[in-house]
Amino acid sequence: MEKPTDTLHPMKFSGYHQPKERPVEELTARVGPGTPCGEYMRRYWHPFLLSSQLDHRPKVVRVLGEDLVLYRDLSGDLGLVHKHCAHRGASLEFGIIAEHGIRCCYHGWLFGNDGTILETPGEPPESPHRHKYCQGAYPVVEFQGVIFTYMGPPAIKPAFPMMDAMVMPDNQMKPYLIHSPCNWQQVSENSMDPFHVAFLHTRVSGPQFSEVFATLPIIEYYDTPHGFFYTNARRVGDFVWIRMHDHLVPNFSQNGAIFENVSHVRYFGRPGLTRWVTPIDDTNTAVIAWRHFNDRDDPHHQGRPDDVGVGKTDFYGQSNEAPYEVRQDSPGDWDAWCSLGPVTSHASEHLGSTDRGIALLRRRLKKEIDDLAQGIEPKALEPLSSGTIPTTGGDTILRIPANGGDDRQLIREVCQKVAQAYMDTQLLPDAERRAAITALLAPLNTADPNEVNPDHGKIFEFKTVG
Ligand code: FES
Ligand SMILES: [Fe+2]
Repeated sequence: MEKPTDTLHPMKFSGYHQPKERPVEELTARVGPGTPCGEYMRRYWHPFLLSSQLDHRPKVVRVLGEDLVLYRDLSGDLGLVHKHCAHRGASLEFGIIAEHGIRCCYHGWLFGNDGTILETPGEPPESPHRHKYCQGAYPVVEFQGVIFTYMGPPAIKPAFPMMDAMVMPDNQMKPYLIHSPCNWQQVSENSMDPFHVAFLHTRVSGPQFSEVFATLPIIEYYDTPHGFFYTNARRVGDFVWIRMHDHLVPNFSQNGAIFENVSHVRYFGRPGLTRWVTPIDDTNTAVIAWRHFNDRDDPHHQGRPDDVGVGKTDFYGQSNEAPYEVRQDSPGDWDAWCSLGPVTSHASEHLGSTDRGIALLRRRLKKEIDDLAQGIEPKALEPLSSGTIPTTGGDTILRIPANGGDDRQLIREVCQKVAQAYMDTQLLPDAERRAAITALLAPLNTADPNEVNPDHGKIFEFKTVG
């Protein structure tokens, strides 16, 4: 007979003995002004709205727990200011947009886009108000249909993070924004948790992306000055498929092609998306990303740009667009990360060996938050002379049939060589890097690299968005 490990607290039917509280994570979850993580997040640029969401009227937005008003002035420039007017607090969502800036509806104070007070029409001309006060304002950058802001100390504003994937040649970028009613960290951590793909996306309710994902991947994590990348590898017949993932702290990530079907050798596939996970406040988050569409990485045109936009994207499980019952039958990422609760409880978790990426990321975040609290600023992203920041996200596929030895070890060694090639070439501009990676990786093939994978047509079936 099975013996309980503890007669007072048996393991079976022991709901009564289990903790009912789920103490929420505090340090890395709170993003409001003055919180340790909020201060840390205010050292980075964050996207917060799509250009398509802004019309000729001011728009109330919330970012990092602050209520703000975004507007496009009559000259076409964007302004992002604190919602409440510096005079007596009327909301600037009712402001009158000016040639340069915005005028409060209540007593007509006019603010420039940088928050300086340009006019106080009810005050005497000699009033010192204009020079003594200002409206809180933040700098804004608009790029390819996405609007970013930096909400930290102006004196240490970093350069706008122009990733190499944001300027790929012959590429169409389509932005999307999807809201999740939960804390940012549980959304962001999803991309450092490659093992969920085998379960959530494949074994649990059938393949949402590809049957091949049912195999547990072989994962190798690498530290970088700004976060991590990892190789995520599987054998597909005679091919070794390595997905490269970026995760830069605090909230940037890229993965390989969304609809990679492993049909043939590929040396330097580039990411299917470029994504930030922006905290709206402690319990609301926006995934803001570009999907990339190009002939190189999606030669069969399985991506659907028309399905990408506000509240939607073209791959499965990223929103609550599908009916609840459909999502119960085949839950997606959105269902999983939101179901952790408004703010998840790290103290209630039981992490295992598949959670190494989560543990690495949390340790890194905590260290950077602690460092900042001690006055050590996070290291700014450094663009190359070309002006862009090198990333690794994408796919490498090599023709390396199993050789009868330890296949997992073989794949691991290939991954290390591929990672090294990506790292060794990161200072090169795109075309040169592509050529250099090809030259470094082509010799790793141990069989004809021109052979097409005979299985690619039948094993890759992509579920349509619900
Ligand atoms: S409240 Fe804005 S001008 Fe008075
Ligand atoms: Fe996922």
